[in-house]
Amino acid sequence: MVERPPVWMMRQAGRYLPQYMMLREKYSFFERCQTPELACEITIQPVDIIGVDAAILFSDILVVPQAMGLEVQMIESKGPLLPDPIKNINDLLRIRVPDADETLSYVFDAIKLIKKELNGRVPLIGFAGAPWTLLCYMVQGKGSKTFDEAKIFCYTEPETAHKLLQMITDTTIAYLQKQIESGVDTVQVFDSWGGLLGRADFEEFSLQYIRQIVVALIDMAPVIVFAKGAWQSLDAMAATGASALGIDWCIMPKMARQLARQNAVLQGNFDPAKLLSPIPVIQKETKQMLAAFGGQKHIANLGHGILPNTPVDHARAFVDTVKEYQILKSAIEISL
Ligand code: CP3
Repeated sequence: MVERPPVWMMRQAGRYLPQYMMLREKYSFFERCQTPELACEITIQPVDIIGVDAAILFSDILVVPQAMGLEVQMIESKGPLLPDPIKNINDLLRIRVPDADETLSYVFDAIKLIKKELNGRVPLIGFAGAPWTLLCYMVQGKGSKTFDEAKIFCYTEPETAHKLLQMITDTTIAYLQKQIESGVDTVQVFDSWGGLLGRADFEEFSLQYIRQIVVALIDMAPVIVFAKGAWQSLDAMAATGASALGIDWCIMPKMARQLARQNAVLQGNFDPAKLLSPIPVIQKETKQMLAAFGGQKHIANLGHGILPNTPVDHARAFVDTVKEYQILKSAIEISL
């Protein structure tokens, strides 16, 4: 039996790793996503280099809007750009619910290759963006702190918004089902912008679609729901039947436990910026985090993606501290 929480890090396959940066010099972002051998190599890098307990597929949430027919570019040091975003009902004619096998087969090929290469060493996590977070990019056309255009679209054209959200949901369900059939052991739904909505709007524009995804998949594989900043809806998220809920560092683990009730498994919630602190601080605060979660029903992780300027040995210090928690615990047991 594992006497400590398992540990992995959101965005663990990425720019803080020199081995990733070397591949980044040679291939464009979507080339890296679309070439199974590259996606496989990048997925496994943090398993070998950092020693995490799970791998997460190297891909992006924006491959779904791409498969639906929208152009998505990844601009160096700026982030995603969708030059022809969705602005009204007519724009829905430009997109479709695609056949996942026809448009995203490179992801399924990558998963099969990764599973083979991992050879049972650690489980593989698949993922997709939550419909609301994908709508944010599909309407706003680029990153934003507020996604005001996406919110205004939902509030002024709710019928069109719901049509779009349903199209994204249908695409996502088929996509995640195929990921599971191809071999992923768990899936995570990333609602990075869930925290921009108040509770009622979160239910209307986000959670009702996440719920459909959870219901469609839960008999096939465990589903982790991470809605950043949406802790006001943790109880409602728990009620979807999701296997685990991700939380960020702004909510205390104890409070999250009270809100989620139902013995939910919680995932999180180390502040990624804290990984730039001196290693002894990382070790101390990681132990405090582990204690606050109570050692059970917890998947140790960051509260959001790891920052690109994180030193590799600091990321490793976080992971090692979680792994040593087990040794400490059993040492205490032996001394008793
Ligand atoms: O977690 C992992 O290591 C798996 C790979 C992964 C990526 N993106 C690779 C990536 C995952 C799970 C994602 C999810 C994702 N993508 C989210 C949800 C999680 C979150 O962080 O909130 C979102 C909102 C996106 C959209 C996206 N992709 C943005 C906003 C950006 C630019 C900002 C940034 O972090 O650079 C990306 C690019 C991206 N996706 C990179 C990576 C490794 C950086 C690309 C590069 O320059 O090499």
